[in-house]
Amino acid sequence: MKNPITDVVILAAGLGTRMKSDTPKVLHRVCGQPMLAILMEELDRAIDPRSGAHFNVVIGHGRDEVSEMVRGLQKSGRIKAPVVFTVQAEQLGTGHAVKLALEHPSKASQVAVFNGDLPLFGADCFSKFLEAHAAARSSASLASTTIADAGQYGRVLRKGMTFTGVVEFKDASAAQRRIREYNGGVYIFDLKTLVNALGKMKNKNAAREFYLPDVFEMARKLKKNILAYHFDNPTVLGGVNNMRELAQAQSALYRRSAEQLMEDGVFIHDPQHTYLGPKVRAGRGCVIGPFTSIHGETVLGDRVRIGAHCELSDVQIGNGTVVRNSTVAEKSVFGKDCSVGPMAHFRPGTRLADNVKIGNFVELKETSIGSNTAVSHLSYLGDAEVGSGVNVGCGFVTCNYDGVVRDGRRKHRSVIRDNVFIGSDCQVVAPIEIASGSFIASGSTVTDTVKEEDSLVVARTRQVTKSGYAKKYRK
Ligand code: UD1
Ligand code: CA
Repeated sequence: MKNPITDVVILAAGLGTRMKSDTPKVLHRVCGQPMLAILMEELDRAIDPRSGAHFNVVIGHGRDEVSEMVRGLQKSGRIKAPVVFTVQAEQLGTGHAVKLALEHPSKASQVAVFNGDLPLFGADCFSKFLEAHAAARSSASLASTTIADAGQYGRVLRKGMTFTGVVEFKDASAAQRRIREYNGGVYIFDLKTLVNALGKMKNKNAAREFYLPDVFEMARKLKKNILAYHFDNPTVLGGVNNMRELAQAQSALYRRSAEQLMEDGVFIHDPQHTYLGPKVRAGRGCVIGPFTSIHGETVLGDRVRIGAHCELSDVQIGNGTVVRNSTVAEKSVFGKDCSVGPMAHFRPGTRLADNVKIGNFVELKETSIGSNTAVSHLSYLGDAEVGSGVNVGCGFVTCNYDGVVRDGRRKHRSVIRDNVFIGSDCQVVAPIEIASGSFIASGSTVTDTVKEEDSLVVARTRQVTKSGYAKKYRK
């Protein structure tokens, strides 16, 4: 059977009062990513972009921030399915939100609906749920799970084993509140059944809201098949309503990716105190120290060793490279067999070739470093291109900024060619270029380009030594 076209409606209009925050709930971050981004990226993997299916995101509170975040996901290619937005100015309930969303024209015959606060529901769960919905020839399905105390969640009602509907916590009797199976806030509906039910939906309940889960009882009365599909692992349906649940969701996601990496052969010294995002990948024989966080699309090659207290995000690291304690790196690429840190800072746009050494208290930004070059201590290199075989002494600075905009640039480039030797405590004032093989004497402030190869540059005042003067001075 051909898969029906399934649009994905995401409910993200609420403020999330219980978060006690001014940030719209779905923008709160889990593992460094807004929880809505995590959910949408996962669901996108289960959507065939050629099927004609699209995302329909219902926004209300913080609608500009939420839509901007989602557009960012599209622009960066992190989601491929097209997106439309539905503005729900007043939050009259989940049923009302879906009804508004369905006003958009669509080719779909089926609609999946997700609460926006489900960062742990993965693509695999969605695929399984779609299959179960099709297999049961269901017109309306929800995903449920069971926990010891289902708190404020809507309870799944069954007569014997037969699913009959959902009762919201606020409307539930004491006996119903003891039910441990709850509605996880993930649904698949046959479009006609859904439109029909939403058209007749009332808000006569404790919250005076239009409850989407009322669709189930209505569909049942119309003799349609309905399904409560039970997920045995409750983690995947962990909704986030407050800061405690946000922290729980985050540790569950971190645990999941640590387990995946250990499965792939990474040794993590202390998995409970290591924070690895879901998209981190590693080759064979890698080791990661405690209190380190690694996020974004960071890729470790084989035999990469990362120390303790490091913070890496969107970094590619070549085979055999060692990143020592307390190193911070973002949007950078390191070659093979490099040694960086401890306490080195790599800002976006750093590129290290192979066998590079970057030592303690070195900061790099928009800078490329050639192979076999060492910058071992206390230096800043910004907007620079450094060749191979260069030795940069202690305390070197590229003076890339003088507060003046020239040729439309605020920052200026420094180019240091191959095999240059820079003594300690030197500066180059950009824009500048140092020809290959040149030797810069310690304590030099170099302001003019060095055009000829193998030049010696001394840019410091001559030493004056006056014998006996110290004695006189003390008197
Ligand atoms: C909802 C379900 C409940 C289920 C729970 C799972 C209803 C009535 N109840 O409860 O059965 O157990 O989810 O987490 O649906 N939203 C809108 N517009 C609105 C109202 C809500 O977009 O008018 C969005 C919210 O931003 C949120 C989602 O819908 O992302 C769910 O809303 P929330 O208030 O958290 O639902 P619950 O009352 O917890
Ligand atoms: Ca000096």
